[in-house]
Amino acid sequence: MEETMTRPGIAIDSLSDREKKVFFPTYERFSIGKVVSASGSYIYTENGDKYLDVIAGLGVNALGHSHPAVVKAVQEQVVSYMHLSNLYLQDVQVELAEKLSQLSGWSKVFFTNSGTEAVEGALKLARKYFSSADKTELIGVSNAFHGRTYGALSVMDKGKYRDGFGPFLEEAGSLIPYSEENLQKRVSAKTAAVIIEVIQGEGGIVEIPVPFVETLHRLQNKFGFLIIADEIQSGIGRTGKFFAYDHYGLQPDIVVCAKAIGGGLPLGAILSNETVASAFKPGMHGTTFGGNALACAAGLAVLTELENGLLDQVNTESEYLISRLYKLKAKYSETIKEIRGKGFMIGVELLKPAKEIHIALLEKKIITNVTANTVLRLLPPLIFNHENTDTFISEFDSVLTGV
Ligand SMILES: Cc1ncc(COP(=O)(O)O)c(C=O)c1O
Repeated sequence: MEETMTRPGIAIDSLSDREKKVFFPTYERFSIGKVVSASGSYIYTENGDKYLDVIAGLGVNALGHSHPAVVKAVQEQVVSYMHLSNLYLQDVQVELAEKLSQLSGWSKVFFTNSGTEAVEGALKLARKYFSSADKTELIGVSNAFHGRTYGALSVMDKGKYRDGFGPFLEEAGSLIPYSEENLQKRVSAKTAAVIIEVIQGEGGIVEIPVPFVETLHRLQNKFGFLIIADEIQSGIGRTGKFFAYDHYGLQPDIVVCAKAIGGGLPLGAILSNETVASAFKPGMHGTTFGGNALACAAGLAVLTELENGLLDQVNTESEYLISRLYKLKAKYSETIKEIRGKGFMIGVELLKPAKEIHIALLEKKIITNVTANTVLRLLPPLIFNHENTDTFISEFDSVLTGV
């Protein structure tokens, strides 16, 4: 096996010869050995190692790994039926849509398989909504991440995701760089929609300032465009509210979510009110797998836990984690620059590349993630508790001592 080593024992390019032979070279994988099982906040490997998962499959495993409610729901569904397609009524899909509507306050739902598919659908919906007016422009906010498909890439600005893939959608783009002043210059009567991630996840857990949101609403009143909130990473309870936009006074017209909503199975959703949703008529938009019965069964288990008080737990437990991180920041002010985020969507900005700390944490059997080069990203499962935090902080402390 060819490996690139940064520290003894941890391979940053550990693709086996078999993997290298068969896969597109899109991922740099981190070696944690062969995973044999995962439960709650832990992942177990063949060698008997136990890893604390502070990234939850990139924000997906809301209830942790193999939560009994998710397992039961999927097991029960799999013996009834797995897939009927969207041409037939599926009770589990209707139940999930009703619960999502009840918890979110949005009356209309369209299920997708992924985040980027939800973004594409939302951008199409905005254009369709204004199809009889001369409003076609789609605008994103600098430093955001909305996915890897062409609509999403067209409203992003980071070269890392876009370079070499152009040309992108006409009449789409991003504020470069984002500021209230640029927003005022960029939007016009031609604008159909502005898409915004109120806490930019891939961008490094960057919170959009409230005055920017206020300017956005002022300009919306003037020009009449739609606001799309990308809650794919920040939604479904991750920040301690059902949607993160509630922390910032943003009142979107369309919301997209994914990741946590499927509790580990591929699921996303577009939400809107009745008027906006009615721009789509039968046959105008669709998906084969979106809203698949198994994914909906898992999603129903996630939303039921949220309905039954999980949000309170997220608030209490995340407050504890964040307070412990602030103590580490005070102790290691030469290494930690800033703690950002809300609830269980946290960025620890370091004064050096975060990869080194990430690798050192992996050696201590702690799984985190790096974004924006210097930011250690923490997206623990929403069931993360005091004991998990204590383990994480103690290992993080010992890694920081050695830096
Ligand atoms: C804010 C945001 N939007 C969109 C996406 C794309 O979602 P997916 O990878 O499911 O297509 C992501 C994924 O990380 C995301 O964080």
